[in-house]
Amino acid sequence: MTKKDTVLILGAAGQIGTDLVLRLREDLGGSQVIATDVRDQKGPIVEGGPFHVVDVMDGAAVAAIINKYNVTQVYHLAALLSATAEKNPMFAWKLNMEGLFNILDIAKANTAVKIFWPSSIAVFGPTTPRDHTPQNTIMEPSTVYGISKQAGERWCEYYFRKHKVDVRSIRYPGLISYKSAPGGGTTDYAVDIFHKALEAGTYECFLEKNTTLPMMYMPDALDATISLMHAAADKVKIRSSYNVAGMSFDPETISNEIRKHLPDFTITYKPDFRQAIAESWPASIDDSMAREHWGWKEKFNLATMTTDMLMNLKAQKVI
Ligand code: SER
Repeated sequence: MTKKDTVLILGAAGQIGTDLVLRLREDLGGSQVIATDVRDQKGPIVEGGPFHVVDVMDGAAVAAIINKYNVTQVYHLAALLSATAEKNPMFAWKLNMEGLFNILDIAKANTAVKIFWPSSIAVFGPTTPRDHTPQNTIMEPSTVYGISKQAGERWCEYYFRKHKVDVRSIRYPGLISYKSAPGGGTTDYAVDIFHKALEAGTYECFLEKNTTLPMMYMPDALDATISLMHAAADKVKIRSSYNVAGMSFDPETISNEIRKHLPDFTITYKPDFRQAIAESWPASIDDSMAREHWGWKEKFNLATMTTDMLMNLKAQKVI
């Protein structure tokens, strides 16, 4: 990424988009980062630079924005996540796949446009080795979201090989952040728990206490994303999607960590349909290829993430 890059973010109001827009506007300047979302928005992503309402399923509208601003990089973040997708499978498949094809086809016609597309730990399934899940392993996802992400990975690699599209991707673990709420994922509990701990002192968790999942704090996710986009093309040897890891924990462990700051905090467990989704995913991830190929290294662990989350959320809630 250079100062000259003009970046388009699709799905800018989502959990990753909100943070990424602000971070890239700091790096590149407000006018260089075009934020778009399917719905009109208020607040920082609209105030700090260009914002447009764009539906990723409308390929012509996406192409028009890319041409208007001479966009050189697209971060295509618009998708339905795991829990929401199970409630509306056909729409999730349509949105997650058509959105991706629209962007890949634009980049096929104009190979100066570099693409970032997020994949997920949801590409793995119940037959995948759960601990230190390798980059290349059995992938039989059992959720609609996971099926769409796995198919998406195959198409990304295909467009890279056949059409020279410079597409790059990360299999994000559950992401923890304070600037915006996650929407419709199975790992969302690890964000909700902080809000409820501060607001109510208690949290009813929709996963069982010993359900370990891979997680990452948003500043690390942004660093991973931006370093992958900065990497020289020949270092990006994997064009499906890279495993990346930050930390792994279960609800009981994170509640114990929160209790170090808020000693009266309590947690109860009432697992719902998301338990089965979580059980089909890895507990921890082997990300040695991302480390080797483009120098990935996380900064936050459970303790430092918890301290930072509570500090920032407290500051937000006072205002
Ligand atoms: N955080 C996502 C979800 O829970 C996984 O990619 O759906």
